[in-house]
Amino acid sequence: MEHLFASTYGYFRADGREYVITTPFTPRPWGNVISNSDYAMMVSQTGSGYSWRNNAGQNRITRSFQDLIQDNWGKYLYLRDLDSGQYWAATYKPTCHQYDHYQVRHGLGYSSFEQIVQGIHSILTVFVAPDDPVEIFQLILTNQSDRQRRLDITSYVEWLLGFAPDEHREFHKLFIETTPEPEFHALLAHKYLWGFADELGRHNNIDWPYVAFLAASEPLKSFDGDKESFIGLYSSLEHPQAMQQPTLAGRSGRFGDAIAALQVEITLAPGERRTVVFTLGAALQGSEDPLALIQRYTSVAASDQTLQAVHAFWSRLVDAEHVETPDPALNLMTNYWLKYQAISGRLWGKSAFYQVSAGYGFRDQLQDCQIFLVCDPALAKRQILLHAAQQFVEGDVLHWWFSIRGGGPRTNCSDDLLWLPFVVDSYLQETGDVAILDEMVPYLNGPAEPLYLHCKRAIERAFSRFSPRGIPLMGDHDWNDGLNAVGTQLRGESFWVTEFLYTILERWIPLAQQRSDEAFAERCTAVRTTIRWAMNRYGWDGEWFLQATTDAGLPLGSQQNEEGRIFLMPNIWAVISGITDQQRAWQAMQAVSRYLLCDYGTLLNYPAFTRPRSDIGYVTRYAPGLRENGGVYTHAATWSVWAYALLGDADHAYEAYRRICPPNRSADIERYKAEPYVTPGNIDGPQSPYFGRGGWTWYTGSAQWLHRVATHWILGIRPQTEGLLIDPLIPATWERFTVRRTFRGAIYEIEVLNPNHVNRGVISLEVDGQPLAGTVIPAFNDGQTHSVRVVLG
Ligand code: GLC
Repeated sequence: MEHLFASTYGYFRADGREYVITTPFTPRPWGNVISNSDYAMMVSQTGSGYSWRNNAGQNRITRSFQDLIQDNWGKYLYLRDLDSGQYWAATYKPTCHQYDHYQVRHGLGYSSFEQIVQGIHSILTVFVAPDDPVEIFQLILTNQSDRQRRLDITSYVEWLLGFAPDEHREFHKLFIETTPEPEFHALLAHKYLWGFADELGRHNNIDWPYVAFLAASEPLKSFDGDKESFIGLYSSLEHPQAMQQPTLAGRSGRFGDAIAALQVEITLAPGERRTVVFTLGAALQGSEDPLALIQRYTSVAASDQTLQAVHAFWSRLVDAEHVETPDPALNLMTNYWLKYQAISGRLWGKSAFYQVSAGYGFRDQLQDCQIFLVCDPALAKRQILLHAAQQFVEGDVLHWWFSIRGGGPRTNCSDDLLWLPFVVDSYLQETGDVAILDEMVPYLNGPAEPLYLHCKRAIERAFSRFSPRGIPLMGDHDWNDGLNAVGTQLRGESFWVTEFLYTILERWIPLAQQRSDEAFAERCTAVRTTIRWAMNRYGWDGEWFLQATTDAGLPLGSQQNEEGRIFLMPNIWAVISGITDQQRAWQAMQAVSRYLLCDYGTLLNYPAFTRPRSDIGYVTRYAPGLRENGGVYTHAATWSVWAYALLGDADHAYEAYRRICPPNRSADIERYKAEPYVTPGNIDGPQSPYFGRGGWTWYTGSAQWLHRVATHWILGIRPQTEGLLIDPLIPATWERFTVRRTFRGAIYEIEVLNPNHVNRGVISLEVDGQPLAGTVIPAFNDGQTHSVRVVLG
C-alpha cells in the first residue's frame, strides 16, 4: 500500500484510517486517545498510557504521571522465554528491549503494536468495547523460529482507583484491596475511599463505587497484587524482580501496594500462532457485574468480534461525510482524524498527554459538539442541553464543571455564556430542528425553562455588561483565558466580545421574530446598531482593530503597545461578524497577513510579551512565542481561514489552512515534533527558540474547527436554514472535488468541477440531473441519495 506523508517516524496508510509509526523514538509521545464515550484510555507509541472512566481526573483507573520525556507509566505485557530466561515486552516500554521490527498503528478506536524479538512475532491490539467499560488487549503471538518456544506472558498495571493524582499516595494506597478470582483468571480491586463527600458532606467517607478488574483468557500460572514483590525494592519496571522468579508472588489483600499482574504460560511450535486476551475494566457496583463483563469479553472470539464492532462504531461516526479533493492532507484530516480527535479525544476522553481534564469546559465541548452535526445531530443536541443545564437564571454559566457530580467556577468570563446561542444556531442551520428551542432545561438555581429562554438570558446577561462607551466588558477574560487581569474590575472592554455578540445577534433577531418575541428582537436590533457604531468608533486603531482596553483604560493590541501590538481575534472576527465596512475588513486582514500569518500558521498576537504584566494576565507569563503569548494558537488560527474566506481571499484562506493542517508538517517533523494526524493546541511562534514546534496535541478545540473551516469555507458547503449552500472557495489549480454527506435525512453526493480554474463562482448547478437556479440545494428529507453537479467558472 502507498504511504502518505512519510517521514522518518511514520506515514498514513493509503486509505487514511491508520497512522503507522515505525519506531518508538518519535520526537514526542505520539499517542491515541480511545474512548467509547464512557470508558477511555490513552496509549503512546511506546505502549505507555492510562485508563479512566468518564473522567480522567476524578475517576482514574490506572496510575500514571505526565512525563512526556520518559513516557514510562503504563499498562504493560511482559513476554518471557522460559528456556532462555530472556524477557521483553509487547511494547517498547517498559523493557526497552532490542527488536528486529517495531511498528505501531494508531487507528480509529484501537492501536496495534507489532514487534519481532528473538523470533517471536507479536501483535498487541488495544481497544475499548463500544458498549461496556472494558478495555481489551489482544495479543497474537507467532513463533517464527524453528524450535518450540515456551513463553509466559505477564501483565502489569498499577491501580489508582479514583482521584488523580492521589497526592498523598501512602494514605490512599491503604484503602485498596485486591482479590484474586482464579476461576475467572482475574484479579479484582476495590477502593474503600473516594474523594467526594458523602450525603452529609463528610469527606473521606465513601467507597469508590466501582470494582476494577484485570482478567486473562488463559488459566493463570500465577498472579501478584503487590508492587513490592513484583518490581522488587529499589528495582524498576525495566528489570522487575518478577522476571527473575519462576512465578509471581501471589500476594493480594489490603496490605500491599496495589497492582494487577497476571501470568499465563503458552507453548508455541515452530510457525504456530496463538492469541491471548487480557481485559481491564471498572464495573459500577450495583448495576454492572465485573465477573459477567470478564466472561463476556475475555476470550479470543470475543476479542475478534469486539474489534469488528469497534470498526463499525467509528465508521458510523466518520463515514457519514466523505470528501475527495486534490489535497490529500485535507482529505485525511477531514474524513477521519479531526472527527476522531474531536469525538474520542475532546468530547469523550477529555484527556490527553498534555492536559488531563476532570470536566467539561462550557464553551469547549459546546463548540466541539458541532462535529456531530453531520453524523449524528442527536449527540450534538444532547451536548447542547447538557451545557444549557450549567447556566444560572441570571444568564451566566459555570466556566467549566466536573463531569462527575458537577460543580465548578462561576466567573465573570464575558464570552462563555454566549457560545450557547452561537452553537444552538449552528445546530438549527444544520438540522432545521427548531423544536430544540422548546426543550425544557433546568437552571443551576432555578426551574426548567425552554432552551430559547436560556439563550435569551445569556444574551441579556451580555447586554447588562457594557462600558459607558457601549463596548462589552472584558470581565474575568474573554475567549482568551490568559487575558485574566485585563478587566476583572469591570471597566476593561473586549472588542472581540463586541464582534462575537454582533455575530450572534444577527442570527437571533430572526429567531426571536419567529417566536413573536418582538420586544427582544427590537432590543437586539438596537444593541446591534449601537455596538457596530461603538466598535468602529473606539475599536479601530488606524490599521487594525484593538483587542481590548484594560481596567486602567490602556489599549491592548494597539500601535501604542510595544508588546502585544496586534491581536488576531478582533481582526478576523471583524470580518466574520461583518461589523465593519469592506475597506476596514480588508485593511485589518492585510495587517493579519503582514504581522501574524507566519510559516506555521496565524499567530494569536505579535510581538509576544516578554515580561509578566499583572494588569493583563497569565498570557504575559508564558515565555514569548508559547501558546497564547505570540504562538500559533490553532483554535483561533482556524478562524483566520474563515475570515480570509469570507473576504473572498482564496489564496490566503488556503494558505492559513494548509500551514496548520498537521500532515503537511511531516516534511519538517524534526522541528514540529508533534503527531501529524491530530491537531496541536499550539505551535511555537517566531520568538521561541523552538519556532514551529507543535505541542498540546489532542486536547484542543482546533480539531472540530479545522474540520469545519475546510468543509464550510474552503469546500464551501454550508448548511443554512433554507438548505445546503454551495459556495466553494478553492485553489484555482483544483480541477474537481467531491463531497458526500448526509443533510436533514438525505444523502447528497456533490461533485464540483472547476474546468476554468477559478477560485470561486458557481455557474451551473444540477440536482438529480435537473438544473437548479441559485446555489442553495433544498432539504429533501426523504432518505434518498441525491446527486449534485456543480460547475465553477
Ligand atoms: C483553552 C481553553 C479555551 C480557551 C482557549 C483560549 O483552550 O480551554 O476555552 O478559549 O484556551 O485561551
